[in-house]
Amino acid sequence: MNEHLRVDGARLWQSIMQMADIGATANGGSHRLTLSDEDKAARDLFAGWCSEAGLTMQVDELGDIFARREGSDAKQAPVAIGSHLDTQPFGGRFDGVFGVLAGLEVIRSLNDHGIATVKPLEVVNWTNEEGARFAPSMLASGVYGGVFALDWALARRAVDTDATLLDELRRIGYHGALPAREREFAAFIECHIEQGPILDSAGIPVGVVDAAQGFRWYDITLEGFASHTGSTPMVGRRNALLGMAKVALAVEEIAAAHAPLARGTVGSQVAVGPGSRNVIPGRVDFTVDLRHPSAATLEKMDAALRRACEAAAAEYGLELSLAQISDTQPVAFDTNCVAALERACARLGIENQRITSGAGHDACYVARRAPTAMLFAPCKDGISHHESESAEAADLEAVCNVLLHAALELAGVA
Ligand code: GLV
Ligand code: MN
Ligand code: MN
Repeated sequence: MNEHLRVDGARLWQSIMQMADIGATANGGSHRLTLSDEDKAARDLFAGWCSEAGLTMQVDELGDIFARREGSDAKQAPVAIGSHLDTQPFGGRFDGVFGVLAGLEVIRSLNDHGIATVKPLEVVNWTNEEGARFAPSMLASGVYGGVFALDWALARRAVDTDATLLDELRRIGYHGALPAREREFAAFIECHIEQGPILDSAGIPVGVVDAAQGFRWYDITLEGFASHTGSTPMVGRRNALLGMAKVALAVEEIAAAHAPLARGTVGSQVAVGPGSRNVIPGRVDFTVDLRHPSAATLEKMDAALRRACEAAAAEYGLELSLAQISDTQPVAFDTNCVAALERACARLGIENQRITSGAGHDACYVARRAPTAMLFAPCKDGISHHESESAEAADLEAVCNVLLHAALELAGVA
């Protein structure tokens, strides 16, 4: 009887659109930075929907929200479904939000049809996936996965104020009592838009994600000497911006040397000091993001980046400081979870393909603790981390139906 069960795609879409009203931008995106007033409003809306759906909520000391629907065997670990409600600055409406609200839609559909599961189900909202306001990304799921220390995470500082993560958790009322690493999951499934062009260009509605590439993030500072642009001779200047320019070009070359899979980017977060058109740049703070599916290649890219930074510093007489703030290893997702997702696609007759994630996701760190896999929906032209990010309601519905059926298999029907 359950094979005819489907989610309510219109309700899923409407909930995503309602969430997008919080922090809505002029060009159709969302601006809901981690632990901002908008993030609080999003959490409150989600929590209200969870209690309407009869879920019991717990918040941990990192602000992660676990909304639980009890199973017939409450002693078993839950099957968890989730992602994140925070967004990039002027980001899209779907990145993260889809994964959280797809979990809620599964619960709402089971409620509508009066279906109980053996294992409990939990919908999870992880704090600070994006890493835009507090670096690095996937901070709370990283603590969960044992990659970051709890105290280090709580002490991370916001880029826009001097507040720590803990200060902001307290300010918005989401510093919970539950210990950060306490939950155990029987499985974790994260739905997300692909954020790349593969599914969209192939016209395939569902990606079954069996792996994610690794990435490393760096905070880099080059310090030279700020002085008058008119009277200081060209020879002998210590221009920090020129050093950064050399590094930016080197990052491009490092990625090209490991094409087509490598990615290398100086991020759009550059501070040049002291901040005057007639003063030579004396200091530049910038970020680098290197990615590759192979850990060994990523190691080579890392070494090349360090060499390039040292060479640029030497060329312009600059002081270099380089801090690596994250090292996300490539992930192979759990074969049983991947198989359950593919079986659900087959049962529903939904066209799908296997895919490797180019982006980092909370699932990458949760996979260190629990059997985990992901589902991707196409997004228009592969665009993400941009206000124009767009997805088709029918594709999100298809992914959510696969999630529903896989969750029922993993949790068991009571
Ligand atoms: C996380 O959102 C990433 O940067 O891939
Ligand atoms: Mn995301
Ligand atoms: Mn993102």
